[in-house]
Amino acid sequence: MVLKRLDPLRAINDWMRGTDYYPAYKAFGHRPSYWYWLLRGKPARIPHRLKQLTVEQYAREFRLAVLIESGTYYGEMVEAMKSRFQEIFSIEIDSGLARLATRRFARYKHIHILEGDSQQLIQELLVKLNRPALFWLDAGYYGFGNQESNRDRLTVELESILKHRIKEHVIVMDDCHGLNGENGVPTLAELISHLNASFPDRKVAVEHNLLRITPSKK
Ligand SMILES: C[S@@+](CC[C@H](N)C(=O)[O-])C[C@H]1O[C@@H](n2cnc3c(N)ncnc32)[C@H](O)[C@@H]1O
Repeated sequence: MVLKRLDPLRAINDWMRGTDYYPAYKAFGHRPSYWYWLLRGKPARIPHRLKQLTVEQYAREFRLAVLIESGTYYGEMVEAMKSRFQEIFSIEIDSGLARLATRRFARYKHIHILEGDSQQLIQELLVKLNRPALFWLDAGYYGFGNQESNRDRLTVELESILKHRIKEHVIVMDDCHGLNGENGVPTLAELISHLNASFPDRKVAVEHNLLRITPSKK
C-alpha cells in the first residue's frame, strides 16, 4: 500500500473551501503571489491579483458600476470586487458552488449569485441591464475540470454583449490560450479579426492571456 504524504497546507486549504471564509482566506495569498510573479519576471501564468487589478483598472477608466461575472467558482473575484462595484452579478453552473457562494455573500444586498449556464443567463441579464457593465468572462469556455464544454458559448456571449443596445460595455476574458484552433475552437487571431470586422466601434487587445474589448471612443 502506498501511503500518501500528509500535506498540512493542502489539508487546511481543502477544509477551508467548504467554509464561508474561503474567499477571504484566499485573499491573504493574492498579494504575495502577485509580488512573487513580478519577482519572477512576469511569467505567462498570471496570478489572480493581476486579474483583479485589470478588472479594477477598466472599471475605473470607463466608470463602470456593474460587474457581471461568468463562472463564480469559489467567489474570489466577487470577494475582491465587493466594495468596488455598486452591483455584482455572478453566474455559476455548478449547483454546489452556486449554493456556497449564495450563502457566503447573502449579507451583501448588491451581490447576486445566479445559478445556471452563462450562455443563457447573460442574455437574460442583458434584457434588464440599463447601464454599462464590466463583463468578466471566466467560465472555463474550453473545458473546466471534467465539465463538458460547448464550443460556441464564448462567441454567443460575446456577440450578445457587443450587439446590446448599450455600446459602452467592457469585456475582459480570461484564458485566451484556450483559443487554439483545435476541435472546432477558433484561434485567437481568428476571433480578433472577426471582432474587428463585425464591431469596428470596439477596440480589441490581448495582454497577459486576457482578451480586452473596450469601446474605441470614450
Ligand atoms: C476558472 S473558474 C472561475 C474563477 C472566478 N471567475 C474567479 O475569478 O475567481 C470557472 C468556473 O466556471 C464555471 N462554469 C463552467 N461552465 C459554466 C457555464 N456554462 N456557466 C456558468 N458557469 C460555468 C465552473 O463551474 C467554474 O466554477
